[in-house]
Amino acid sequence: MILSAQTSPSLVGDIEIQYLHHNQPIYNPNFDPEIIDGLQKTPKTLPARYFYDAKGSQLFEQICQLPEYYPTRTEASILQNCADEIAAITGICEIVELGSGSSTKTRLLLNAYQQLGEAVHYVPIDVSAEILVESAKQLVTEYPTLKVTGLVGTYDEALEQLIETTPPGRLVIFLGSSIGNFTPQACDRFLQEVAQGLQPGDYFLLGIDLQKSPDVLEAAYNDSQGITAAFNLNMLEHLNWRFDGNFDPSLFKHRAIYNKKEHQIEMYLDAQKDHQVSLNSLNLNLDFKAGETIHTEISRKFNWQTLPEYLTQQGLNPIQGWVDEKEWFGLMLINSQKSPLSLPNLTKPL
Ligand code: AVI
Repeated sequence: MILSAQTSPSLVGDIEIQYLHHNQPIYNPNFDPEIIDGLQKTPKTLPARYFYDAKGSQLFEQICQLPEYYPTRTEASILQNCADEIAAITGICEIVELGSGSSTKTRLLLNAYQQLGEAVHYVPIDVSAEILVESAKQLVTEYPTLKVTGLVGTYDEALEQLIETTPPGRLVIFLGSSIGNFTPQACDRFLQEVAQGLQPGDYFLLGIDLQKSPDVLEAAYNDSQGITAAFNLNMLEHLNWRFDGNFDPSLFKHRAIYNKKEHQIEMYLDAQKDHQVSLNSLNLNLDFKAGETIHTEISRKFNWQTLPEYLTQQGLNPIQGWVDEKEWFGLMLINSQKSPLSLPNLTKPL
C-alpha cells in the first residue's frame, strides 16, 4: 500500500483525500529539466502538462463548451445512452477515475450505478488536490449515499496504486480521449500498465477520439472565439510565473494542424519576430527567430476498426464498444485478459 500518511480530515459527508506521492512533491514546481531540454532542442518543445495552471484549466473548461469542440458533448451523449448498459455489465463496483478533473461526465455513470441500489464508492485521481476537494464536496451533496476517496497523484502513481490494491471489483475510467495526448510509446506503456493492474472482475472504460475529416478536426483546435489560442498561449504566462520568465505571448501565434500521416492534431506556438526570452530560475536564455516554432501538444485520433486489435496487443480484452451516429467518438469497455468475457456485437452504434 503506497498511500502516504497525509490524509485530510473528513470534509463533507463521506469524503477522504489521500496523497499517492511518496512524501515528495509531485514535481518540483520551480525546476524542470524537461523544460530546459525541450527549449534547447530544434524544434523546441514544451510538455503539455504546463497548460493546466488555474487559468489554463478554466480555459480548458471553456474549450469543452465550444461549438467546434465536439469531443466533450459527443462523449457525454454516448455515455448518456450507454451508462445503464455499462452498469448492468459490470454490476456494482468501485469506480476509479484517472484524471478526474471536475468529474462532470462521471455523473452520467453515477446516476446509472445509483439505480443498482447500493452505495457507490467513487475514487477520483487527479494531480490537483483543489479540484478533487471541490468536486468531491459537490458530488456528495448531489449523491448523499456516495463515498468519495480522492487520490492526489499522477497517472503513474495511480497505475501503481491499481496494481498494488485488489478490491473486489472496479471500473477504471479514463475519459475525454486524454489518451490521445500521449505519444504512441507512452500510450502503449500506459495501456500495458492498466492491463497489469486489472484483476479478474475489473473493467476499464476508455473514451477515445476517432479519425474524421481534417476540416472538422482543425476547426475543433482553431475555434472562432480564439479560446484554444488563448489556452495555448497561456502556457507562456504559466512559464513566466513559475520560472521567473519574460515570454511576451503577443510575439507568438497559436497554430493547430492535422498531421494526416500520423493521425494527430499538432499544436504549435510560432514566434512572430526575432527576439530573446529568459527563464531566470532555470538560468535559461533563449533566442527565437521569426517563424521558429514551439511544439506544445499532440492529440492523436484513433481508428475504431483497428482499436480492438491494438488493445488486445497491449494485454487488454475489449468486450463492448459504443460510438455516436457520426462515429466521431467511441467508448470502449474492456476487461482483463485474465477473465475474458465475450459479448456479441463489439460495437454498438447508438
Ligand atoms: C485534454 N485533451 C484530451 C484535449 C485534446 O483535445 O487533446 C486537450 C486540448 N487541447 C486543445 N484543445 C483541447
